[in-house]
Amino acid sequence: MSFLVGVDIGTSGTKTVLFDEKGNSVASHLEEYPLYQEKIGWAEQEPLDWWNATANSIKAVLHKSGVNPEDVKGVGLSGQMHGLVLLDKGGNVLRKSIIWCDQRTGQECIEITNKIGAERLIEITANPALTGFTASKIMWVKNHEPEIYEKVDKILLPKDYVRYMLTGEFATEVSDGSGMQLMDIKNRCWSDEVLEKLEIDKSFLGKMYESCEVTGTITKSAAEATGLKVGTIVVGGAGDQAACAVGNGIVKSGIISSTIGTSGVVFAHMDNVEIDKLGRVHTFCHAVPGKWHVMGVTQGAGLSLKWYRDNFCRAEMETADGMGVDPYYLMDKQAERIPAGCDGLMYLPYLMGERTPHLDANAKGVFFGLSAKHDKTSMLRAVMEGVSYSLKDCMEIIKEMGITASEVRASGGGGKSKLWRQMQADMFGCNINTINSSEGGALGVAILAGVGAGIYSSVPEACDMAISVTSSMPPIEENVKTYEKYYQVYKNLYPALKPQFEAIAQN
Ligand code: XUL
Repeated sequence: MSFLVGVDIGTSGTKTVLFDEKGNSVASHLEEYPLYQEKIGWAEQEPLDWWNATANSIKAVLHKSGVNPEDVKGVGLSGQMHGLVLLDKGGNVLRKSIIWCDQRTGQECIEITNKIGAERLIEITANPALTGFTASKIMWVKNHEPEIYEKVDKILLPKDYVRYMLTGEFATEVSDGSGMQLMDIKNRCWSDEVLEKLEIDKSFLGKMYESCEVTGTITKSAAEATGLKVGTIVVGGAGDQAACAVGNGIVKSGIISSTIGTSGVVFAHMDNVEIDKLGRVHTFCHAVPGKWHVMGVTQGAGLSLKWYRDNFCRAEMETADGMGVDPYYLMDKQAERIPAGCDGLMYLPYLMGERTPHLDANAKGVFFGLSAKHDKTSMLRAVMEGVSYSLKDCMEIIKEMGITASEVRASGGGGKSKLWRQMQADMFGCNINTINSSEGGALGVAILAGVGAGIYSSVPEACDMAISVTSSMPPIEENVKTYEKYYQVYKNLYPALKPQFEAIAQN
């Protein structure tokens, strides 16, 4: 039997899963690390923490499973996207990584837009300048820490730093590379025009691969640190969203995924590249060779419900603890008792600003339509509905781009909630399905490693073998009408409040 390793380098920790060749999880291990927030809006992590967590977790899954390292045929890396890792000539980390959710680069986004031109930037990189993306982080270091930038020899993404530690190679792949905002997305390569205009040396960047290509092999020192065999292949892997999409089987047209994690993502595969001219959704290269994907992102999805739980559901958390169940399960049961539409109570989930469709870091969370008849449970349901309306915003733009789907697959922590799936079925007006695996990104990159190792002939073939639909939830006609009515109100709230969001951001 052959085995594959999927490593998912996330923000709260690194999760490594060992799979057999049928895609069954054999052993998994999570290792956590800190997030440093020195100032409001800043977010940094230590690249060596990612490497240590990767090495330890690979060692742990080999140990737990008892699998012979000889039988591990490949490693795939998935990771938080957009983070900036700077190395000097000796391969040493020059500063902590400025990661995806760091928002310090507003000025640099203006600078990038001025240097390249707003329309041209979207034409080449398929996105407007965004604070989360890597290009603006590079410009920030250039502007604010020139003494560090002077020493830069290599610029890598989080998972690509781990690749360097595993294989000694400086490389990336098209799906994660897309989120750097330095790529020509249509041609799947670095954009000379963007690099020249931003004065970033091309030799700093890694070699670009397709996601299932072999990028290097495990070195002697990495073998000692991980327990893997010297020479085991490491494929390109993918940015976390594309990896998760592969793990959900979103590798052909006609299936869309809706993932509720901390953020919420609506993700569609594209055979041909389509770009939203307003840049409200991200078009990136997919981890399927020669294909693309589009995704809409809600910044505060699961985050909104977690915020609500932590602040207003102490009693539920204690009861759940006593019963040995998940507090979210009890919260679901409570919210089910409130009618669809919450009698006009609405929530805007902009606790961390918003990406799709508003691209507004100043947007804030709002409860709207409160009356004396509403209570704490109405507010709970309103939070879940507000997140779902926001995912509908993403879905609507994707539809506007001419992308249609016969199936939407729910995933992420929020996908486990029956009520949240029903809301999405009712708002999107289509069936919401679930699949047999919840390993998401780790399974996705293990599949890519299997293709690279020659175990599978293609990514779609591997997905057909490993992934199947296990449940399907149809919309409830009456709720469809209710949500359609309230969605019109929801859509009017942001434009009406935008000036007020700006006013409070000034203070
Ligand atoms: C994608 C994005 C997140 C991060 C962290 O654009 O910002 O998915 O990769 O998970």
